[in-house]
Amino acid sequence: MSFIINRKKNTAHEMGKKLDMNNIPKHVAIIMDGNGRWAKKRGFIRTLGHRAGMEAVKRVVRASCEIGIKYLTLYAFSTENWKRPAEEVNGLMDLLIEYLGREINELNENDVKLNFIGDLSKIPEKCKIKIKESEEITKNNKGLTLNIALNYGGRNEIVNAVKKIGKSLLDGKIKLNDIDEQIIADNLYTAGQPDPDLIIRPSGELRISNFMLWQSAYSELWFSDILWPDFDKNHLLEAIIDYQKRNRRFGGI
Ligand code: IPE
Ligand code: IPE
Ligand code: MG
Repeated sequence: MSFIINRKKNTAHEMGKKLDMNNIPKHVAIIMDGNGRWAKKRGFIRTLGHRAGMEAVKRVVRASCEIGIKYLTLYAFSTENWKRPAEEVNGLMDLLIEYLGREINELNENDVKLNFIGDLSKIPEKCKIKIKESEEITKNNKGLTLNIALNYGGRNEIVNAVKKIGKSLLDGKIKLNDIDEQIIADNLYTAGQPDPDLIIRPSGELRISNFMLWQSAYSELWFSDILWPDFDKNHLLEAIIDYQKRNRRFGGI
């Protein structure tokens, strides 16, 4: 399916739908869910669902570059996902290594900057090596910042921030009254990045599942029954077109 961008009018068309290129969300975050159900429907093992989910990642990253999204956060593995069988967890880690190995050149050519968010201390060493390597290769890129949330939990992120702030307080670097929303934001994994404008959750679940608890204060939410491995550029555009119709008030009138 092709997608035509009209640079003069600053619009883009896809299947008769019009995207306003002047109102592209800066930061889109996606809870990539439904891989297991996608596999089950086909009688496949769950890992094959995750593999198909990796293809959706490629499509969505490409489309995000194309329409000029500045930050894309993909929730790949939560702090609660360790509850799954070791075989599935290992399969997910191996798939990440495979994705980085295969995609790093294209990502780099497309000016994508990779940034992992989450508690990486618990991630297998072979995975950490690949993560550091891919962040290093892409560190000077200026296009899309691709945050991959790995062993990420919104509560864990806040606990981590509180510890860092507590240490600055104990070390006398800050005073109690210096603690404000900005200091908290500056100590999250997403320090320096804008909050997500749009959070997308496919798979029919209507929950946040410990994702971006602080940053989502005023995010627009978009839910869909589509399973993540079926997610493509058109779904992303549909979500953004819906987002563009919303009236964001941030508590104002
Ligand atoms: C992918 O979907 C999300 C990850 C944790 C990798 P799931 O594996 O949660 O798929 P469902 O929810 O069982 O369908
Ligand atoms: C959320 O999906 C986590 C990721 C997409 C990585 P889950 O499948 O783990 O969420 P729940 O258990 O349905 O809330
Ligand atoms: Mg799930």
